[in-house]
Amino acid sequence: MKTQIAFLREFLRNPGAVGAIAPSSPSLAREMVRQAGVLQARTIVEFGPGTGAFTREIVKQAVPEARFLAIERNPTLARILQQELPSVRVCHDSVENLGAILHREGIGQVDCILSGLPWAAFSEQLQDRLLEEACRNLAPRGRFVTFAYLQGLLLPAGRRFARKIRRKFAHTEKSPVVWRNLPPAFVYRCQR
Ligand SMILES: C[S@@+](CC[C@H](N)C(=O)[O-])C[C@H]1O[C@@H](n2cnc3c(N)ncnc32)[C@H](O)[C@@H]1O
Repeated sequence: MKTQIAFLREFLRNPGAVGAIAPSSPSLAREMVRQAGVLQARTIVEFGPGTGAFTREIVKQAVPEARFLAIERNPTLARILQQELPSVRVCHDSVENLGAILHREGIGQVDCILSGLPWAAFSEQLQDRLLEEACRNLAPRGRFVTFAYLQGLLLPAGRRFARKIRRKFAHTEKSPVVWRNLPPAFVYRCQR
C-alpha cells in the first residue's frame, strides 16, 4: 500500500513522465517476463520500473548469474525501489542515456529489455530516441518487450506507436490480452 501511495503521489506531481495512476498487475508482470524470455537471459535491463511491479517478477525468474539493471528517472521511485529490493542494481537515470549507463556498468549488449515506459505520454521525438537506444544496445537475437493498454489501439497515438515499433524491429508480435490489469493490456514482443 505504501508503494501504491508513493506511485500515485509521483503521478500527480508529474503525470507526463509517470504516465499511469497505479502500478501494473502481477498478471501483466508475468506476461512481460514470459514474453521477454527472462529465464534464458544473461543480461536484463528494465526501463521505468516505478515501484517494481515487473522488477519483483524478474528477480523471481532470472537465473542467479544473470546481470539485471533497472533504470528509473524519478528520484523518489528509484530510492524507494532500491530500499525495497536492495539486491537489484537500480540506476537513477534516464533511458536516454542507456549506452553510457551500460558502458559504466561494464555491460555489452543486452539479451532482453522490459519496458514499463509510458510511451503514449511521450512526444514522437522522445519515442524515437528511446527506441533507438533500445535497438542499438540489444543483442542480435535479443528481445524488447513493452506493454500497451487495450483501449490505446483505438487511438491514433497508440496505432502510430504500433506502426513505429513494427518499422523499428524485424519481428514484432502481440501477446493475448491480459484482462487482469487495470486497464486491460497486452505485450509487444520485438526482436531485431
Ligand atoms: C507507467 S510507470 C510504470 C511503472 C512499472 N513498470 C509498472 O508497470 O507498474 C512508468 C515509469 O517510467 C519512468 N520513466 C519515465 N520516463 C523515463 C525515462 N526516460 N527513463 C527512465 N524511467 C522513466 C517513470 O518515472 C515511471 O516510474
